[in-house]
Amino acid sequence: MSTPIPHTLVEPVRDTRVRPLHDLRISVIDRCNFRCPYCMPEDQYAHDHVFLAKDQRLRFEEIERIARAFVSLGVRKLRLTGGEPLLRRDLPELVRQLARIPGVVDIALTTNGVLLPRFAQALRDAGLQRLTVSLDSLDPATFHKLSGGRGQIEEVLAGIAAAEAAGFSRIKLNCVVMRGVNDMQILDLVERYRGTGHIVRFIEYMDVGTLNGWREDLVVTSAELIARIAARWPLQPLERNYGGEVAQRYAFADGAGEIGFISSVSQPFCGDCSRARLSADGKLYTCLFAQSGFDLREPLRAGASDTDLQALIAQRWAQRADRYSERRAELRARGEDGKVEMFAIGG
Ligand SMILES: C[S@@+](CC[C@H](N)C(=O)[O-])C[C@H]1O[C@@H](n2cnc3c(N)ncnc32)[C@H](O)[C@@H]1O
Ligand code: SF4
Repeated sequence: MSTPIPHTLVEPVRDTRVRPLHDLRISVIDRCNFRCPYCMPEDQYAHDHVFLAKDQRLRFEEIERIARAFVSLGVRKLRLTGGEPLLRRDLPELVRQLARIPGVVDIALTTNGVLLPRFAQALRDAGLQRLTVSLDSLDPATFHKLSGGRGQIEEVLAGIAAAEAAGFSRIKLNCVVMRGVNDMQILDLVERYRGTGHIVRFIEYMDVGTLNGWREDLVVTSAELIARIAARWPLQPLERNYGGEVAQRYAFADGAGEIGFISSVSQPFCGDCSRARLSADGKLYTCLFAQSGFDLREPLRAGASDTDLQALIAQRWAQRADRYSERRAELRARGEDGKVEMFAIGG
C-alpha cells in the first residue's frame, strides 16, 4: 500500500554540481515510424534489433507513480517523448493522469507530427499544454530523406494544422541541421514561420547514441546559423525564460516573433542541466549521453512504496556528476562509447 508523497514538503534534490532536478522527460515507447539518419539510421541499427515488448514497457499507472515521486523531489515540468510517442496506444489517457499530479506546472510532447491529425484534439482535451514538432526541412525531397524515407512533408504540415485547430499556439518546430543535407534550406523554414507565433528552433547535430556516424564537420554551429539568418532578418537576443532553458532565444527586430538555437555541441549547457530522463522500460538516465540507466521498474514491480521510489531517485540524482557535452572531445578521444540511443530515451 503506498502513501501519497506531499510535493511541497521536500526540498528540491541537488546533484554533486548543485544542479536541481526540475524537468522529467518520459519516453513512452522505443519504436518509431521514421528512421531519421541522425537518430535511428535505417542502414545502421540492426535489423534484428528487438524493440521492447509490451510488458517490458512501463504501464501508465507505473509512469504516473514514478512521475509523482519525481515531482516530490522538485520536478515541475514533464515532457513526453520517444521513439514516436504518438505510437503509444491511448497516449491522451496518460496525459490526463499526469495532468492530475499536484505540483506539475507544464506538460509538453515532442513528436514528428505525422499522427497529430488523429490525436491533437484528444491531447489538448486531456491537458497537454505545449507541443514540439520536429521539422527538418520544407523541401519535400530533403524532408523525405531526413525521415529515412518514411515520411512526407504534407503529413507533418497537416499535423501542425490539426494542432493549431485544436488550440495549440506557440508550437516549437525543431530542426536538426546537418551541413550539406538541409542547412541550405534554413531560411525557407524561418520565412515560413516568421509572424505565425510558432517558434523555429535549430538544433546542432549531436553525437547521440552510437549509430549515427556523427562527424564534427557535419555540425553547423548556432553562431553560423545566427549570422546567416540575421543577415536577412536582423535579430535581437532575448533573456532566458528560466534557468536551465536549453535554447538561446532571439527576437526578429521587426517584431515578427522569435526563434531559438540549441547549441549542445558548440556551447555545452551541462552547467545548469536540470533534466532527468525515464526510458520506456523504466530506467532513469541522468544525461542524454549516458552509457547506462538506473532501473526503477524492478523495484516498482517488486512492491517498492512511493517513499522507497522517492529515496531511490533522490539518491541517484544526488550522485549525478554527468557533463558529457563539456567533456565531449576528451571522452571521444579516449574512445569511451556505448551511449544509449536517442530513440530509447527521447530528446
Ligand atoms: C528522439 S526525438 C523523439 C520524439 C519524436 N520522435 C520526434 O522526432 O520529435 C526528439 C528530438 O530529438 C532530436 N534529435 C534526434 N537525434 C538527434 C541528433 N543526433 N542531434 C540533435 N537532435 C536530435 C529530434 O530531431 C527530435 O526533435
Ligand atoms: S528523431 Fe524522432 S522521428 Fe526521427 S527517428 Fe528519432 S525518434 Fe523517430
